[in-house]
Amino acid sequence: MKILCVIVLLTLVSMSNSIGFTRIQVRIMNRRGNGKSITIHCQSEDDDLGTHVVSDGQEINWSFRENFMLTTRFYCYLQWDRKGKHFNFDAYSGKRDDGGRCSTECLWKILEGGLWGYDQEQQIWQAFSLPGMGEKEV
Ligand SMILES: *[C@@H]1O[C@H](CO)[C@@H](O)[C@H](O)[C@H]1NC(C)=O
Repeated sequence: MKILCVIVLLTLVSMSNSIGFTRIQVRIMNRRGNGKSITIHCQSEDDDLGTHVVSDGQEINWSFRENFMLTTRFYCYLQWDRKGKHFNFDAYSGKRDDGGRCSTECLWKILEGGLWGYDQEQQIWQAFSLPGMGEKEV
C-alpha cells in the first residue's frame, strides 16, 4: 500500500511538471535609447540561457513552466557598457512572483536610468535597481 502511494505521488509530480502549470513568459527589453546595447546572462538551476548582447530596442524572451515545488528561479546578470554599471536580479522567482507579480508574464525594461519590473497584479512598473545605487540584489 505504501509503495502504491509513492508510485501514485511520483506520477502526479511528474505529470504536473509536464502539463500542470501555465507557461510564464519572461521578457527583458533594452530601452536605453541612443543605440546603446546591454549584456544579459540568465540562468536557472536547469537552464543556462547564455550570454546575449541585446541592442537598443531589442529584447530577450523565453518561457517556462513552474516546477512542482514552485521554486523556479531565473537569475540574471546585466551589464551596461561602462564599467561599474552592472547588477544581478531575479527575472523570475517562484517565491516572489508565483500567481501574483508574474502570473503569465514577467516584463523587465532597462532604461538608461535603471531596471524596471512590471507587476501584473497591481499593473504598475516598479523601479528595481537604479545606477548610482551601485550593485544591488533584487
Ligand atoms: C522575443 O524575442 C525575439 C528576438 O528579439 C523577438 O523577435 C520576438 O518578437 C520576441 N517575442 C515577443 C513575444 O515579444
